[in-house]
Amino acid sequence: MKQSPIPYGVLIGAALYAFSGAGHAAADVAADTQKEALQKTIETCTICHGAGGRSVSPTFPNLAGQMAPYIELQLHAFKDQTRADPDAQAYMWGMASQLNDGSISGLAEYFSKQSAAPGRSGNAALIARGKQIFTEGVPARQIVACASCHGANAEGNGPFPRLAGQHAPYLLKQLFVIQSVLRTAPVMHGVIKDLTKEQMQAVVAYLESV
Ligand code: HEC
Ligand code: HEC
Repeated sequence: MKQSPIPYGVLIGAALYAFSGAGHAAADVAADTQKEALQKTIETCTICHGAGGRSVSPTFPNLAGQMAPYIELQLHAFKDQTRADPDAQAYMWGMASQLNDGSISGLAEYFSKQSAAPGRSGNAALIARGKQIFTEGVPARQIVACASCHGANAEGNGPFPRLAGQHAPYLLKQLFVIQSVLRTAPVMHGVIKDLTKEQMQAVVAYLESV
């Protein structure tokens, strides 16, 4: 007789696992239903945000590789209507009103684990100027380095969003709505209140390229 390549301990463990599983059938069914529901919700999100959260249209931000705590904060802000710029209202208020705490954390986990969209090259001079603003700030206007919160390579850090590889038109629009307080973000508002339009265009060109 050939010897089984699988040690008995593993077989017994597997049998015990199967047995204990029978007792939890109801819980398993509930978990499966929840997983299916989350999967369906993800499919809805990807209609706009792209497969895996890598969006092809600059109107829709990439979600792939975004910080999970930041995604959660934003979904709550859409749901309680504190993120209230016109596009947030038009596109995200209705979506977020359907989500509960469990689905919000499930979605944040899913999108944060997808590999981020790669950067795209652009106008080299503009990108170089933007990189300088991102890494050094604008001392003459008391604007601190963006990298101090958003990470050395704009990779994000918890509640500070990833900006690397994000669509430049989306980022530019956010800088405008944050500066004009259409989107309430007090910390960011304080940092960029004196950033000029030209400086914004440079910094978003850099961010899209990394
Ligand atoms: C009909 C299109 C559409 C659908 C569907 C949609 N979104 Fe959005 N989403 C948008 C737009 C547009 C914005 C940018 C809003 C703004 O400019 O303030 C956005 C913004 C976001 C943001 C903020 C991103 C950031 O960088 O701040 C998150 C998070 C988000 N959506 C998650 C989701 C999730 C999760 C779903 C599915 C439950 C979803 N969206 C479904 C269009 C959509
Ligand atoms: C003191 C920390 C801090 C600094 C410095 C900072 N930010 Fe932010 N930034 C934040 C926080 C916090 C948010 C999220 C705001 C929210 O929750 O709505 C944010 C959000 C943003 C967003 C919106 C991203 C999205 O996906 O919607 C952009 C764009 C941005 N920052 C660009 C910049 C730029 C450019 C600089 C440098 C000129 C900068 N930030 C400096 C803290 C900072």
